Amino acid sequence: MRLQGKVALITGGASGIGLATVRKFVREGAKVMIADINLEQAEAAAAEIAGEGHEGSVAAVGVNVSVYAEVEAAVARTVEIFGSLDVIFNNAGIAGGRPLLEHDPAVDYEPIIRVDQDGVYYGILAAGRQFKQQGTGGVIISTSSIYGEQAAELSFTYSAAKAAVISFTRSAAYELAEYGVRAVAITPGRVGTPIINQFSEELKATFAAEQLRNKLTRPEEIADVVAFLASDEANAINGTVVSVDDGYSV
Ligand code: NAI
Repeated sequence: MRLQGKVALITGGASGIGLATVRKFVREGAKVMIADINLEQAEAAAAEIAGEGHEGSVAAVGVNVSVYAEVEAAVARTVEIFGSLDVIFNNAGIAGGRPLLEHDPAVDYEPIIRVDQDGVYYGILAAGRQFKQQGTGGVIISTSSIYGEQAAELSFTYSAAKAAVISFTRSAAYELAEYGVRAVAITPGRVGTPIINQFSEELKATFAAEQLRNKLTRPEEIADVVAFLASDEANAINGTVVSVDDGYSV
C-alpha cells in the first residue's frame, strides 16, 4: 500500500500502460481518476475496477489533453471527487507518421504534437498550479519513449514530441522544486499494448527481438515502475529519465 492516501490523475488511463497503472495504483491504496478522450472506455474500466472491491477509489472523466481548458477541468474534477491531487501521470499519447518527405503537416505533424507534446505541457501546467495552491507538493510522471532519445523510422514528429517530454520534465523539476514538486519521465521500448498488439505476430516477434531476453514489455511491468516513482520511496529521483525499455537501448 505504498500509495495509501494519494490521489492520482492518469491520462490515457482507459487503455494499455495507463490502464495497467490505474489498476496498480488502486491496489497500492491510491484514489485514481481515469482521464481519457475515450470516455466510454474510461467509464467501463472504472466500473470494472470499482466492482473488484475498490468502490469509491476510482472515477472517470473525459478529456482531450490537447485542450488546456479540458485538462484543467479534469484536475478540478479530480479534486472535487477525491479532495486533492498528489500525482499526475501524463501518459496519453498517439503514434504514427510517414517518411518525412511524404509528410502532410496537417496529418503527420500537428495531431501528434497536439497530443504527445502539448498534452504533457498542459498536464504539467494544470497539475503544477494545483500543487502550488494546495501547498502539498506533488509528483509529475510523464511517458516519453526510447524514440525521445533516438531517431527511428516513421517517427520524425513522434521523436520530437517525446524529446520535448524529457525537456519538460527537467524544466518542471527545476521550476516547481520550490513547491515541493518532483518530475520524472519514463522511456518505454516495445510494450504489449493495443498500439503494438494490432500488428501481425511476425512484426510483434521482430519487436520482441529488439529487446534483451526477446520479450515485449508488459504494461503491468511499466505500471510497477510508475507506482514506485510516484511513491515516497522514489523521493530522490527528480528531473530525470527512467528507462523502462527492457534493455532495448543497452
Ligand atoms: P494505448 O493506445 O493503449 O493507450 C493510449 C490511451 O490514450 C488511449 O486510451 C487513448 O484513448 C488515450 N488518448 C489518445 N489521445 C488522447 C487525447 N487527445 N486525450 C486524452 N486521451 C487520449 O497506448 P499505450 O501503448 O498504452 O501508450 C501509452 C503511452 O506510452 C503513449 O504516450 C505512448 O506514446 C507511450 N509509449 C508506448 C509504447 C508502446 O510500445 N506501446 C512505447 C513507448 C512509449
